[in-house]
Amino acid sequence: MTTDSKPSMHIDPYERGWIIATIILLIVFAAAITVAGFAMGIQVPAPAGRVNPQTVAQEGQFATPGLRELAPGKYEAYILAQIWRFDPSEITVPAGSEVMFYVTSKDVQHSFSIDGTNVNMQIVPGQISRLGHRFDTPGEYRIVCAEYCGSGHAAMYGKVIVTP
Ligand code: CUA
Repeated sequence: MTTDSKPSMHIDPYERGWIIATIILLIVFAAAITVAGFAMGIQVPAPAGRVNPQTVAQEGQFATPGLRELAPGKYEAYILAQIWRFDPSEITVPAGSEVMFYVTSKDVQHSFSIDGTNVNMQIVPGQISRLGHRFDTPGEYRIVCAEYCGSGHAAMYGKVIVTP
């Protein structure tokens, strides 16, 4: 008979394995988010304000949508989504440019997704969606509406042209 008075907790080896696996996964996920956010610059779309969908095409930044150059290589693009096009549907920037996209809709829900980039956001009438991207590689990047928005949905696309 043992006289050891130390309390001991029995954990089933199977359970212990899953506790350890869970802790490792949490550390991996936290590291992945940290690397994506700080080292790779990946952002999530952020609501950047509200607008009145009825008047958005007549007043404010979206009355004259398009590209604005803030500084060399730094741009803002105001894009108005509507059935069934993006206005403007084409923007051209030199390689190495950082573009912050501000997109809203004046009618129904659309989306704004740029092939080959992290830019993919829901476009909700009344809300401005914002997401930035740095275009390092010259070429044509297709913009598509990835949210079914009616009979012309498949024809709703545009492009970003990145010149060398
Ligand atoms: Cu706009 Cu689909």
